[in-house]
Amino acid sequence: MFFATGLQRSEPIAGDVLMSLKRFVALACVLWWGSPVWASDEVVEVSHWWVSDGERSSIDVIRRHVEREGLRWQAEAAAGSGTSRYSDVLRQRVDAGRPPMASQVIGYDIHEWASQGKLVVLDDVAREQEWDEVVPYDIQHLSKYQGHWVAAPINAHSTNWLWINGPQFARLGLVPPDTWPDLLAILEKAKTAGLIPLAIGREQWEHTLLFESVAVGAGGAEFYRRVFLDLNPNARDIQVLEGIFRRFGQLRPYLDPGFTKRSWDQATDLVRSGKALMQVQGSWVNGEFHHHSMVPGRDYECLRFPDTQGVFLFNSDQYMFFTENTASDETRNAFVRTLMRIELQRELNIATGAAPARVDVPRESFNRCGQQAITDMRGANMRRTLMGSIAMGNANPGPVKRAIYQVVSDHLLGRIDDGEAVSRMRQIMDGASSP
Ligand code: GAL
Repeated sequence: MFFATGLQRSEPIAGDVLMSLKRFVALACVLWWGSPVWASDEVVEVSHWWVSDGERSSIDVIRRHVEREGLRWQAEAAAGSGTSRYSDVLRQRVDAGRPPMASQVIGYDIHEWASQGKLVVLDDVAREQEWDEVVPYDIQHLSKYQGHWVAAPINAHSTNWLWINGPQFARLGLVPPDTWPDLLAILEKAKTAGLIPLAIGREQWEHTLLFESVAVGAGGAEFYRRVFLDLNPNARDIQVLEGIFRRFGQLRPYLDPGFTKRSWDQATDLVRSGKALMQVQGSWVNGEFHHHSMVPGRDYECLRFPDTQGVFLFNSDQYMFFTENTASDETRNAFVRTLMRIELQRELNIATGAAPARVDVPRESFNRCGQQAITDMRGANMRRTLMGSIAMGNANPGPVKRAIYQVVSDHLLGRIDDGEAVSRMRQIMDGASSP
């Protein structure tokens, strides 16, 4: 399979011609009647969880592109950032026999829906737009079920980042931390200066997101793959795991004391206002900052979590399409094609803060953090260090993910010690590998 990083591809073909015609007709209707007129089957009905400030700007980009195709946009949002809170709402709709045309989805949830026979196979559009050639292999692994495309990936967020308030970073005379001791020293300086050193939210996925950076930084890429993707640790890995929990515990004194009451974007606001020095979060923080007109290098810094340079722990937002929805193939395919176009993925991910899910999107118009994300994603794709985020369910199916969440949160909240955390992790891995 060929993933050229500088590849430019011309855009397809018959479907596009048809949509241009429809766009022309829709535009003519606007001009003639003063408001757009759509056939009822030209509605793109979407369900998603993008509700924060930056996320709302992102969904707006998709809406604009859809409307430019002469299609009508109808969206329903339920907060929940890919957690079961969102999936429960979606599940109720599907069970009630009214699935939306499309839903946002991440990670192994795609395989779960596909295994129940709920998803439309997208192979035709994938072939036409040559997705196999431009989407990184590890993302394809999630977008495909039993060799068939069942989801369209729209971005490649990564989680192993430090997002740092720029003026505070300068005021404290800090330099980018390269190692674990460097990171602890910076957190200590922030604490002494009366800042919240490390902002974080209350949800288990956020705790796990912090944990996975500590883990890959301490253990390295091969360790992460063996232990968290293959769930097949060796004896030495178990010792390393113990060291990782020791490090994780060292972060406790630096956490925002109010973290059990906050959402991830409230934690981001603490960094934005300079009350907190930093947050370890996915590149959606870049989207929040961008929304608030903040500029990297002046208002904030984006640095790779120490010792994780070269690794890209990804979380790819994708769209899946329900067979039981009554939308026409034509309308659905028009939406699928739109999502995967270079131009949408460029504009969309300037807003989301992520790298696009295609390796061939020009990087010039992205901000510095976005450009770095694209470079890192392409490099990691070539070196096999593009690996799924545990926290965002891109590493393991739901039951394993939720079991890991529980151990990590219990440890972060001080309910269990390092030894107990390691033995519960081993149980999870043993359970997953036994038939
Ligand atoms: C993730 C999603 C990101 C971002 C984040 C925080 O699940 O993939 O795009 O929205 O949640 O809400």
